[in-house]
Amino acid sequence: MSQATAAAGPVPEALPNIEFRVLLDSATLLHRVRELGTLISRDYSGKDLVMVAILKGAQIFACDLLREVSVPVVIDFISISRYKRSSETTGVRITRELEIDIRGRDVLIIEDIVDTGLTLDFLTRRLKQREPASVAICTLLDRPDLRLAEIPMRYVGFNVSEEFLVGYGLDYREQYRNLPFIAAIEV
Ligand code: IMP
Ligand code: MG
Repeated sequence: MSQATAAAGPVPEALPNIEFRVLLDSATLLHRVRELGTLISRDYSGKDLVMVAILKGAQIFACDLLREVSVPVVIDFISISRYKRSSETTGVRITRELEIDIRGRDVLIIEDIVDTGLTLDFLTRRLKQREPASVAICTLLDRPDLRLAEIPMRYVGFNVSEEFLVGYGLDYREQYRNLPFIAAIEV
């Protein structure tokens, strides 16, 4: 058993038994981010674009993407936490609110990875209540096989399989967000 599997509490500083299998290296990520930036700049020309990045996982992707957008854009951050409501159901709540008023504006939600889709389903509904002009989703990674909620995805960086991924913002117990690549690990 790897140390990561055995660790019930905080992750030790060094995890020598963890093996990273790099799936997307830094150059591949930045190339795709650039392509997404070009598409977004084309689609949002003449609009009032607000990028809403979901903390903490999407922050690195969002900041790289922001620099590839060539039309006027503002960015804000929202934080969400998922909790067990009962043995079957999971609830979602906002733990850090937006500072920007999105009413009448064109919101693009920026996410690191969409799995079941429950987080984004919740967030999209909540943001729509604030009457923005539009709400769309841009995710770096999509794992469509595990989807439980039907959510329309306008921009997807890469489709990925069921392996657990870390790096470029994605964490395992808060570690490895700093890796410049995306890698699969055994957890
Ligand atoms: P969903 O609500 O099931 O779509 O949850 C997606 C969220 O789960 C993402 O925002 C991530 O925070 C987290 N997540 C899902 N898969 C992974 C992974 O492979 N590595 C790290 N975080 C993940
Ligand atoms: Mg996340």
